[in-house]
Amino acid sequence: MSTNNSFSGIIDHYASRLPVSEAMKPVSLGEGGTPLIKLRNIPRLVGKDIELYVKYEGLNPTGSFKDRGMTLAVTKAVEEGSEAIICASTGNTSAAAAAYAARAGITAFVLIPEGKIALGKLAQTLMYGAVVIQIRGNFDDGMRLVKEVAGKAPVTIVNSINPYRIEGQKTAAFEIVDQLGGAPDFHCLPVGNAGNITAYWKGYSEYASESQGHPSVTSSCPIMVGYQAAGSAPFVIGGMVDHPETVATAIRIGHPQSWDLAWLAQKESGGWFDKVEDDEILRVQKMLAENEGVFCEPASAASLAGALHDIESGKIPEESSIVCTLTGNGLKDPDTAIKQCHIQPVTIEPELDAVKRAILDRL
Ligand code: F0G
Repeated sequence: MSTNNSFSGIIDHYASRLPVSEAMKPVSLGEGGTPLIKLRNIPRLVGKDIELYVKYEGLNPTGSFKDRGMTLAVTKAVEEGSEAIICASTGNTSAAAAAYAARAGITAFVLIPEGKIALGKLAQTLMYGAVVIQIRGNFDDGMRLVKEVAGKAPVTIVNSINPYRIEGQKTAAFEIVDQLGGAPDFHCLPVGNAGNITAYWKGYSEYASESQGHPSVTSSCPIMVGYQAAGSAPFVIGGMVDHPETVATAIRIGHPQSWDLAWLAQKESGGWFDKVEDDEILRVQKMLAENEGVFCEPASAASLAGALHDIESGKIPEESSIVCTLTGNGLKDPDTAIKQCHIQPVTIEPELDAVKRAILDRL
């Protein structure tokens, strides 16, 4: 789904800022280089003077931000002689792991919660040829099992507890600073396992410390804001959630692995965590598609839904610049999308009169 053909992937592009060697052969699908889209209509609709951007990570090769981390994790796994990778996933990590394993010619094992991953993600993972193991449990059960089995079998874990995943994903922060000519005032993210907020904070912090002493580069760090679905909000509750629930299945996680690092990002940046109800997530997903032509999956819309709430209340003040990461493509979850579209297609006979009537009825 990548749109930027001149971008040769994050390892080539950011080699000097990543733990890679000259000799390394990147396992890449051209990930990264995603658009930062300035919203035109939504700021007007909410009547606020804000600069609001979305970083559209759904345009990565497998349709989510996971590709940035997976290219590096799989490249390193292959370099270290691994012939198999494994992950637990709510869907996007499994799709990315499966694709990069296919590219590398190694095997991917993925553990997914039965019946709780979006259709597009399952289709991708099967097409790329991963070994799909459905568990009668949730993501957190899968994560526990992956950690146990990886200690006993010759497989490399490619969840975000693998530090190369975080290293790869931090490149999104570099891109935003380059695209905007500086860091935004606020950066809003959906939070599940909390690897991505950790990665962005690392990226912003590294860029900012590098630019010190280079007056031509102005980079500071944004305030980091993490939004969770109300039924899966351990960072908001301040403790683990044993039975997480949300329509945004990508972030249906109650025991985040990057717990301490995400709190550090929040504290160091002066940010906060908050929750968003499912109906609000879906309303904003549709609002974004309808008003800006940008289709993201439900979990991704949590970032914008939360940001709009905090803009409305004034917690994010007017005249701020705000970036919301749209972590995954809307095509990942067609079932949830179609269910919430109240205007369904009309069906007519293949005749001119019938088309005319269908048009005139709707003008
Ligand atoms: N948005 C989407 C679309 C995701 O797939 C995920 C995580 C997140 C947000 C949250 O990111 O976990 O770094 O805080 N998906 C993982 C997966 C868990 O298995 O695909 P996080």
